[in-house]
Amino acid sequence: MEQNKITMIKKLTSVITALIITISMAAQITIIPKPNSIKVNEDNFALNSETVIYSNEKERANIYYLQEFIKDATPFPLKQQIEYPSQNFIILEVTQEGKIPAEGYKLQVSSKGVTIKGSTQTGIFYGIQSLLQMLPATIYSGNISGHEKWIIQGVEIEDSPRYSYRGMHLDVSRTFFDVNTVKKFINWLSFHKMNKFHWHLTDDNGWRVEIKKYPKLTEVGAWRGENEALDAAFGSGNKRYGGFYTQREIKEIVAYATERHIEIIPEIDLPGHSRAVTAAYPEVGCDGEDESVSVQGEEQNVWCVGKEHNFKMLNNIIKEVAALFPSKYFHIGGDEVNYEQWNNCPHCQALMKEKEMQKHEELLNYFVRKMEIIVEKHGKHMAGWDEILDGGELKPQTRVYAWRSVAKGIESVTKGQPTVMMPGEYCYFDMKQSPAERGHNWAGIVTLEKVYSLDPTSKIASANAQITTANGQVNLATSKSTPSLTQEQEALILGVQGGLWAELFGRPARFMEYQAYPRIAALSEVGWTLPENKEFNEFSYRLSTAHFERMHQMGIEFRMDPPKVVYINGSIMVTAPYPWSIVRYTTDESEPTMYSPLYRGEIITDRAQKFRFATFYKDQIKSISVKPENANYTYLKPITTIETSMTENSRFPIKNVTDYSFKTYFRSNSKIKAGDYFIYKFDSPVKASRITVETGIPNITFYGVTDGYAEFSYDGVNYVEKTEFKLNSAVLYPKEEVKSVRIVATKPNDGYILALQDLRIEE
Ligand code: ACM
Ligand code: ZN
Repeated sequence: MEQNKITMIKKLTSVITALIITISMAAQITIIPKPNSIKVNEDNFALNSETVIYSNEKERANIYYLQEFIKDATPFPLKQQIEYPSQNFIILEVTQEGKIPAEGYKLQVSSKGVTIKGSTQTGIFYGIQSLLQMLPATIYSGNISGHEKWIIQGVEIEDSPRYSYRGMHLDVSRTFFDVNTVKKFINWLSFHKMNKFHWHLTDDNGWRVEIKKYPKLTEVGAWRGENEALDAAFGSGNKRYGGFYTQREIKEIVAYATERHIEIIPEIDLPGHSRAVTAAYPEVGCDGEDESVSVQGEEQNVWCVGKEHNFKMLNNIIKEVAALFPSKYFHIGGDEVNYEQWNNCPHCQALMKEKEMQKHEELLNYFVRKMEIIVEKHGKHMAGWDEILDGGELKPQTRVYAWRSVAKGIESVTKGQPTVMMPGEYCYFDMKQSPAERGHNWAGIVTLEKVYSLDPTSKIASANAQITTANGQVNLATSKSTPSLTQEQEALILGVQGGLWAELFGRPARFMEYQAYPRIAALSEVGWTLPENKEFNEFSYRLSTAHFERMHQMGIEFRMDPPKVVYINGSIMVTAPYPWSIVRYTTDESEPTMYSPLYRGEIITDRAQKFRFATFYKDQIKSISVKPENANYTYLKPITTIETSMTENSRFPIKNVTDYSFKTYFRSNSKIKAGDYFIYKFDSPVKASRITVETGIPNITFYGVTDGYAEFSYDGVNYVEKTEFKLNSAVLYPKEEVKSVRIVATKPNDGYILALQDLRIEE
């Protein structure tokens, strides 16, 4: 027993020592994504007004790029020199010596200066990114304090990416992001050595690219709201919402991305996800009596495959879009087709019969093969979501984006398709980052650590080659080789991509950035850094001690962990998530702000449930606010019956809102419309100080009441104190015992169904 303890302590000590060493090494070089070889030396190099820049590159782009940063943030001019300098220099050198990989670079810092070598401009660009991260973080903003030391640690870095595809996807349909926001997003990617931007330009809720031949696509299809062809959706409300990019703007963004070595892969989502198209040109949809809806609840959102002239229109659209993008690839979607539309359409059915097709997936394959031909005709290869694997063969160069699972990625490479790994459970950044936060969770909670843990190649090994040990445990194979995949198949895994679906990004302001970072920082290491150089705790250390400040200076409103707050025996104790973090709090349930008091130590109180705490970064960025664990409100649970004008979805029945379990909730079968109501009737009158009426899905805040009011009744007949819904909720303050609470809608809501929760009744 004692011996065991000693062994354990010894083991623990060595683990801690190893960690401290890794951390103290990393304290000097904190670059994200982590370079693959770092040798720190005793030297350092101080930039000064005499420092010159030299390059043998034919093009000046890298010189100008670096000069801009240095000029904006330092007092130094960084003049270009024509001869090879012997001291006080930054040298950018293209060289074919030393076999530096295409996107790789060598960065050497000595007392004489900085040398960045690469075999391509892209490699040198990534060397510059590493150099920027070795300078004070204000290099990114130019907002210098004046106290910066422009000194660079002596080092030799040899670096190149693990994967050639390191991408991010952004949906600009559900929420529209303007030109400047898209540029900022691209710029931030380039700081993380990401090289692909998958631009999801169309979906049910908005067509976002100007097509000259079909102007209604944007005149009609880019707008939603009360008097628009497209319904309001996802909290965009009943006012006119939308926007699109002109072809000139698209070209401007493409040029901006190209300067940052980022390739933009455009996506026009077909043949499903096309409600914005059928709103503008109803004739492209299927005929027939089908009233079914897509996974997202959209009617009539599928292109008819049986109408041959649709392919002429598709050809014309693809032709215009393809001409805007230099990328070799064109993404045509292919996901989540509502097959009921085809099953009930005379044209689609006639085609299936003619071609002797048995399954609707074959009709999808028929569509996809025709799109391959169109896309290739316009000089591109086709890409699509993993559903395009389902109905038949594809051209060997057609690229598959595996989003449904890692297994779909395996299937794809096994079939010989080049594949980008994008499994939702690791890569969908519209998922929540912790259970209490806003976001989806259909693919699970996607924590920073979960993102970081993805190994796109060895995951395949583990899925295919689970090794069962003697004691019955399943060991996941972690070797780099994939026993059941051939080398050729393994090489078809091009890399990794994160996804940002935008239906929740309408609010709060800049929620997209909150969902994107730091998860993109973690993803950048998944794509760039070799597995043997990756360790989550060490990454977290670099992230919170150095990269938070960089992201802040880059202008990103990134996510931080909230503090851990517990309430025991009348005392609130707070643990800050990072050693340096500031925690502020309020005592009246309001959101902490930069003016709220600082938490400085234990708080004694008997009103713990009224307290809210948040982590702050420099009083400018904050975490979600939390209340003390185990200081929950004790809501009253009076026996309640409910009456409504709406019909229930049997999976989310109306009784869910009277069980006082806040996890269960009600969903209707349709939109709420003016005059629809719910009445909560209490068996016995209830004395309450406050009643909060929450509509919408818990933690997601859509499918709620957009326009309407809540009120209550003292006698069960007459209703008083009408309170308008604001952001899906209404709060009532009765003065006497209440017999019932009523909700009434005054306009349709901005979702295809209505969701409702239990009343939160406080004594
Ligand atoms: C997808 O998430 N529908 C590709
Ligand atoms: Zn059809």
